[in-house]
Amino acid sequence: MIVILNFGSQFAHLIARRVREVGVRSEILPYNATIKQIKKLNPSGIILSGGPNSVNDPHAHKANKQIYNLGIPILGICYGQQLMVRQLGGAVKRAKAHEYGKESISISKKDTLFKKCKTRETVWFSHSDNVVKLPKGFRQLASTSNSRNAAIEHRQKHFYGVQFHPEVTHTVHGKQIISNFVLNICKAPKDWQISSLRDTIIKGLKEQIGKDEHVLIGLSGGVDSLVTATLLRKAVGDRAHAVLIDTGLLRKNEAQNVKIELQKIGIDWLNIHNSSAIFFKKLKNITNPEKKRKIIGHTFISEFEKHAKKRLSHYNIVYLAQGTIYPDRIESAEPSKNISKIKSHHNLTLPEKMRLKIVEPIKDLYKDEVRKLGISLGLPKDILNRHPFPGPGLAIRILGSVNKRRVKTLQEADAIYMQELKMAGEYNKIWQAFAALLPVKCVGVMGDARTYENIVTLRAVDSVDAMTADWHNIPNNLLAKISSRIVSEVRGINRVVYDITQKPPGTIEYE
Ligand code: XMP
Repeated sequence: MIVILNFGSQFAHLIARRVREVGVRSEILPYNATIKQIKKLNPSGIILSGGPNSVNDPHAHKANKQIYNLGIPILGICYGQQLMVRQLGGAVKRAKAHEYGKESISISKKDTLFKKCKTRETVWFSHSDNVVKLPKGFRQLASTSNSRNAAIEHRQKHFYGVQFHPEVTHTVHGKQIISNFVLNICKAPKDWQISSLRDTIIKGLKEQIGKDEHVLIGLSGGVDSLVTATLLRKAVGDRAHAVLIDTGLLRKNEAQNVKIELQKIGIDWLNIHNSSAIFFKKLKNITNPEKKRKIIGHTFISEFEKHAKKRLSHYNIVYLAQGTIYPDRIESAEPSKNISKIKSHHNLTLPEKMRLKIVEPIKDLYKDEVRKLGISLGLPKDILNRHPFPGPGLAIRILGSVNKRRVKTLQEADAIYMQELKMAGEYNKIWQAFAALLPVKCVGVMGDARTYENIVTLRAVDSVDAMTADWHNIPNNLLAKISSRIVSEVRGINRVVYDITQKPPGTIEYE
């Protein structure tokens, strides 16, 4: 197990994932974690993350100096390297030139951190400070024209520092460098394999839930809740009850499709409850985005509760399972608040009156790990590889008020968009794609007649964790085909636009 101390790096989650990719458990702790907290996890090594500040700032985040006396290897990345240097008696200065982007480093010693790397390697930098004086016992491992100390080591103590970011994919052999540190230098046991994780989680659920208690789970049609429900079924059989509330705001035929896909592999335990009428009634004439979200959240909870009570009142339901995942709990960039913070709007809020105890079987996993777990549980790949879908559904993709007709129009346009992306092999290259409805009227011409209809906007983004995103470059000919199909096949749409806004400053969703 490797501990990552987070100094506010936007890449802290990426470091954690890279460590897990080499088969070793990782946990992110805030930079000011106590020695007791760190020791409790019994780590084989520590990684100090990057961070936005300069170590020379008077208020710079510092690690507890006792970490250097734990007798375990430490790797400092960027800010982490500079901090280690400062705390151990070296010096860091503002660099003459800011290094940003891809650079080449030349490696002088290849037997520890750079095992199996080439003498020259392409790496990714983002820094404005440089290590100018090494602490006692350290030596240089690699350099660039700007930073003499692009990588350093204290061989006896197994302390390492890199000025660049091995965790990002632009660093060509970054995974090798992380693997060298974790497996060769820390000698961390390989304790993070999906198949054994699955067995451990199921065993844990069996122990936690006991012999005659029942569990309730709300399915959204998304990956996380489905994997959670499947784990529970494996652990406690038909004492796990899965309920899917169809809000009427799901994608075209979503609830039925999920049911059919699951039935194909023998899963017949899904209860679908159609609550769409009440959602449309409550949303009538509501235009304010926050109001919409609140109404949907409250209606969801009361419908979930009502339905669960009606259908399941004769069972001894003690637990509510939630599909919370690791990034939901650990904020990436705010080191002071980065422990156990639930994004309330991203999760089903517990109906308090139900007084159920919470189980969160996948709370330590990243999305890609949840997908792998889903595969090892035998779930259909098509469902597991679907793009994320927000709880409030299509309501936050229809600007202004929501009604059945508008939802139907958007569902049709979105279905064409998804179908074309899948047929062209583009869907799996994209992190999240969807259509949104702009109910503003514009003029068009169809045949000989003038039209006065709505606009659909297409969004497709590349992202790692939805915190930041860039627009995806869909080939022009594919965009052209999608656009002409939507305009000719969907009533009420006479114009299609493509959204080229990054996040920030935009968000992924529209409301
Ligand atoms: P934004 O729009 O904030 O979205 O850039 C970031 C990611 O979060 C998803 N999202 C939600 N997911 N409930 C959810 O379960 C919500 O209320 C919600 N709002 C946004 C969004 O789809 C994107 O993946």
